Amino acid sequence: MRARRPRPGPADRPSGGAPTARGRQSSAVAGHCPCEAWLIGWPPGTGTGWHDHAESVGAFVSAAGELTENALAARLPTGGWKTLELTDGVDRKRRLPTGKGRAFGRHHVHEVLNESPDRHAVSVHAYYSSLPRIRRYSRNGQTLRLEQVERPEDWQ
Ligand SMILES: [Fe+2]
Repeated sequence: MRARRPRPGPADRPSGGAPTARGRQSSAVAGHCPCEAWLIGWPPGTGTGWHDHAESVGAFVSAAGELTENALAARLPTGGWKTLELTDGVDRKRRLPTGKGRAFGRHHVHEVLNESPDRHAVSVHAYYSSLPRIRRYSRNGQTLRLEQVERPEDWQ
């Protein structure tokens, strides 16, 4: 495996927007499998916005600093909807200090944040198979709205 130069990546962009000067920076790790890995730097106060990873399974770990993950403990319909009303009790929050990580299955919906006001974080993310697309959502209370579908050509 080899590291590519830093570039905007699938987890490197605010929801529905372009990379910002304060945005995260990521480096893809190349290999010879139908998978992908990213090393991501998180300035204080940055986050991914709500999104999923389609059919890919994945895992990530905080290598430095602490990340927060907000996730939905619910399987969403894979298509055919624009807004969805979430039921109470589906929200899960976990903190991932240095050395802690988590794995997730297909269609996992989450947002990842560095909530620290003054500490950078670094994390490593891996996906199998390579991400076919990412659906990005906005959220207002219990209402989840599909905003954008990104495909690999959007981040490569
Ligand atoms: Fe993600």
